[in-house]
Amino acid sequence: MQEKINKHINDIQSINIVTAEDSEKFKKTYLSKSGILNNLFLEFKNLTNDQKKGSGKLLNNLKNLAFNKIVNLEDSEKQAKRKKKGDLTMPGNYEKNGSQHPLTKVENRIINIFNKVGFTLSDGPEIEDDWHNFSALNMPKHHPARDMQDTFFISIDPDTLLRTHTSSVQIRYMEANKPPIRIISPGRVYRKEDISARAHCIFHQIEGLYIDENIGFSDLKKMIMYFIESLFGKDARIRFRPSFFPFTEPSAEVDIYWGLNSEADYRITKGTGWLEIMGCGMIDPNVLDNVNINSKKFSGFAFGLGIERVTMLLHQIDDLRLFFENDIRFLKQFQ
Ligand code: PHE
Repeated sequence: MQEKINKHINDIQSINIVTAEDSEKFKKTYLSKSGILNNLFLEFKNLTNDQKKGSGKLLNNLKNLAFNKIVNLEDSEKQAKRKKKGDLTMPGNYEKNGSQHPLTKVENRIINIFNKVGFTLSDGPEIEDDWHNFSALNMPKHHPARDMQDTFFISIDPDTLLRTHTSSVQIRYMEANKPPIRIISPGRVYRKEDISARAHCIFHQIEGLYIDENIGFSDLKKMIMYFIESLFGKDARIRFRPSFFPFTEPSAEVDIYWGLNSEADYRITKGTGWLEIMGCGMIDPNVLDNVNINSKKFSGFAFGLGIERVTMLLHQIDDLRLFFENDIRFLKQFQ
């Protein structure tokens, strides 16, 4: 009997319990009802008193050894858990980083392109008055061209409105500064339009203004070409279309080729394959007179482009509403 017990003591000492499986196996072999320890005690019971003498103590040693092995293991597991919870040197759990909205990213790219050729930023209010949004821009009261830009008026006061374009910023700047002028004004604008894949009642523009002596339409065209090549590359297909704006003469609109393969392409381009991204033209002398700039001496051009449209073209996004829904799955693609 003693020999047997000694063998088990040796065995247990050399057993290495690491995983939960190891410890389960150990418990089953040594500590369960039909395990080695119980069987040894049963055997012990049947020994004669003489035989019991040497074995009793040894058996107790074996028992303590086996139980301690499990208790120690459980203690060290608990300790490890506690350590895990409270270890301040462990790296933290970071919240996922947000990122700039695609419109902000493209806006910044456009601003950079114009900064390079000397345009500075100019800002203005989104709640405007009639003068800066319309009258000073050669659209006196009841001028039919006001209908081109369905306006949100604020309360019943016809003089207070949400700006329909950032041309209003140009008026403010010209009132306060003398030529030469080179500014761009990015910002949010509002129009009472039906929301669709290609239009929204809120959108973003960047308008530019360039005034100096001897500025002609060729300067305007050169600037637009520089801008489009910088943003879309040399191979972009582009067209100038004659157009009308009350504050420019002559006026043009610029389209970029989108493509005409899918149903979405038809929807976006009204079946033409082309997407209009900006209006432009030579500033009407009446506008310069309105802000006390000598229209005999100075001339200039202005342009206004839609940031949503440009972003749609750059990233082949076929629904403008995506910019305002802020679906995280959409935004994540621009991180
Ligand atoms: N303000 C015009 C618009 O919002 C765009 C434009 C700007 C056209 C400057 C000509 C010159 O539609």
